[in-house]
Amino acid sequence: MEILLCNGYDEISEKAAAILADTVKENPAAVLGMATGSTPEGMYKRLIERYEAGTLDFSAVETFNLDEYYPLAAENEQSYHYYMNEKLFKHINVKPERIHILNGEAKDADAECKAYSNAIAAAGGIDLQILGIGENGHIGFNEPGEYLHADVHKTALTESTVNANARFFATRDEVPRYALTVGIGDILRAKKILLLASGKAKANAIRALLDDRITTSLPASLLKTHPNVVLICDRAAFGEE
Ligand code: PGA
Repeated sequence: MEILLCNGYDEISEKAAAILADTVKENPAAVLGMATGSTPEGMYKRLIERYEAGTLDFSAVETFNLDEYYPLAAENEQSYHYYMNEKLFKHINVKPERIHILNGEAKDADAECKAYSNAIAAAGGIDLQILGIGENGHIGFNEPGEYLHADVHKTALTESTVNANARFFATRDEVPRYALTVGIGDILRAKKILLLASGKAKANAIRALLDDRITTSLPASLLKTHPNVVLICDRAAFGEE
């Protein structure tokens, strides 16, 4: 795993944006795996700036988001549909028909997951996967547990994740208790992975990620089996502050 140690959040955002921009410049039809949460927001802002400056063109890219709450309507301001539109998609020239996000309102969750798997395969797989990391080491909504799922699936959120994400909702009770998420196998099939981590709250997860053990109780530890992962983190997440 390559580690880019940064002096703060802005540097993480700039380095991540630069790598994503280079990917799109090299391959204008790149398939991008998108993440939500607080961490990638700065990267998205910098991508919008590059688009507005005329140095980046998203017209041929295809995107697949990692996950979506279930059940939750796309119009809900806490949905990842809403997040992606507000933080990135409505500001750039990505084609709506090339944007894929799991449907948090699907009646048949299993069929939705299967269709999403098929769509990723039909696109030729993910070229660059952006990831955040949960305080509990989750990636996407692949939560720690006795076993993990390889494929796109419906999952229950852990208490740790419900607590961490309650800050976005009016009350903790409003946090959906389930999500649809790509699986660990989907993530590991990406050609390149960027893992972003900022702040002290992530230090325990990053420390565990950087020792030699692989365990389903820290889903991110599976990333150690991937040949092309770049961890972009600040000193606080690295445990130095
Ligand atoms: P965060 O979430 O970026 O809001 O910290 C990361 C995650 O839970 O994957």
